[in-house]
Amino acid sequence: MLSMPFLTAASLLLPARSSAQILRDPGVYGPPLEVVHLYNDQWPTGIAISRSGRKFSNYPPGLDANNTNDGTNGKYTVAELVGNDTERAYPSVEINNPPGGSVNYSTYPATGANYQDYLIGVQSVVLDPLDRLWILDTGRALTPNSTLVPASYGGPKLICVDLSTDAVVQTIVFPPTVAYADSYLNDVRFDLRAHLTESGQGVAYITDSSTEGRNGIVVVDLGSGESWRHLDGAREVRPDRGFVASVWGAPTYYIPGPGQPLTYLPFGADGIALGADGADLYWTSVGSRTLYSLATERLLDCSLHGELLAQSEIRNRGEKGVSDGLETDSNGFVYAGNMEQNAISFFNPGNASATLFVRDQRINWVDTMATGADGYLYFTVNQLSFSAAFYPGTDRRVRPFVLFRAKLPGNGTRTRLQ
Ligand SMILES: *[C@@H]1O[C@H](CO)[C@@H](O)[C@H](O)[C@H]1NC(C)=O
Ligand SMILES: *[C@@H]1O[C@H](CO)[C@@H](O)[C@H](O)[C@H]1NC(C)=O
Ligand SMILES: *[C@@H]1O[C@H](CO)[C@@H](O)[C@H](O)[C@H]1NC(C)=O
Ligand SMILES: *[C@@H]1O[C@H](CO)[C@@H](O)[C@H](O)[C@H]1NC(C)=O
Ligand SMILES: *[C@@H]1O[C@H](CO)[C@@H](O)[C@H](O)[C@H]1NC(C)=O
Ligand SMILES: *[C@@H]1O[C@H](CO)[C@@H](O)[C@H](O)[C@H]1NC(C)=O
Repeated sequence: MLSMPFLTAASLLLPARSSAQILRDPGVYGPPLEVVHLYNDQWPTGIAISRSGRKFSNYPPGLDANNTNDGTNGKYTVAELVGNDTERAYPSVEINNPPGGSVNYSTYPATGANYQDYLIGVQSVVLDPLDRLWILDTGRALTPNSTLVPASYGGPKLICVDLSTDAVVQTIVFPPTVAYADSYLNDVRFDLRAHLTESGQGVAYITDSSTEGRNGIVVVDLGSGESWRHLDGAREVRPDRGFVASVWGAPTYYIPGPGQPLTYLPFGADGIALGADGADLYWTSVGSRTLYSLATERLLDCSLHGELLAQSEIRNRGEKGVSDGLETDSNGFVYAGNMEQNAISFFNPGNASATLFVRDQRINWVDTMATGADGYLYFTVNQLSFSAAFYPGTDRRVRPFVLFRAKLPGNGTRTRLQ
């Protein structure tokens, strides 16, 4: 039996502490956040920052019916940010306005429009190491009642824009065996090193985050335009079963379409980042807290055993919180949103650990990050989980949506794989 501890003279002399002294979570950590841009018009996801500081965003009609171009409403799916609160359609008003709109209502059910020369539903804008802007089109859009239409051939594509002329210089259309009608090509990273392919023009890696389920990684030869899939349906590119993320303390449940029952978060492989030396590709599902990687050598291999080798060599790099986009810097760190903690963390491959980077009450859904050549991490915070697609089904988003930046640690800057 334990005896009662003796009260010492010293403990009797300690002053009583008041309730105001209860230790509390400061809620803020890391370098100060700077507000770069306020989005007061359409709802954004992606961000790209050129070497000269030009800024581009995209506005997916596949996640917000209010972004869908109906042929008359002048909505844009890609814009350049001008000033700190204005956006203008990019690379042109015309390419953002497919004749008749982004949805083809002459089919039943309705489908994504099949134009190769117009933007239908853009989910990412990303710069390559040569500072060319690549636009990733899912070819999909929501109808006014928030039904996500399947893509048609011509819709899912990668479009390259030369920033010095603002002209489209290359278009790579994905065949329906690579981008399925119910694929959702989400995010993309580029490695332009010549030795990677016979064509010598480098490659792109793309996540397929489809909420309908056939998730995977798409690889594109930028010279030949050929593309192929890897890891189709593998557990590591799928959302975890029963996954519930919390944002600002509230658990999130998803509404897949009008009148449909709630589901767990159904988003598969979404965030993607290339390690600084190009040896590893990192990705994460939104419906998971785990960071995975695979040697890029395995993704480039489409030989007889290429898929078996790829699946057998996936690496689990540990938990980093719930993230949408990922990004890398010249330190080799892999930045990941950590939306359950109002934060961004980074994974350091050197110690296999996640580290808190910034934390702030203004952070909720960290959508997309981009490393600037100016040594800052730029990121959009867009309240995605407060939209009508999440329980209770009302739109609780409040404008403005925000582009922030924070100084990278260790003088980090953009990587260059060329
Ligand atoms: C639809 O978008 C416009 C800007 O393009 C915005 O002013 C309006 O609030 C949006 N409506 C909803 C429901 O998001
Ligand atoms: C945007 O720029 C204007 C004019 O320079 C300035 O008054 C305003 O504070 C800026 N807003 C933000 C969010 O930085
Ligand atoms: C719409 O669908 C019809 C029927 O498949 C097709 O002929 C037409 O080219 C499509 N138009 C667009 C813009 O997708
Ligand atoms: C939603 O809109 C689509 C396209 O107009 C239509 O085919 C579908 O029946 C509608 N669904 C519901 C549940 O209203
Ligand atoms: C891992 O490395 C980062 C960057 O050097 C460092 O900040 C962090 O404290 C390290 N984490 C652990 C668990 O050692
Ligand atoms: C960052 O750059 C500054 C100025 O060039 C230098 O003094 C400092 O040592 C660098 N810090 C790191 C961590 O490399």
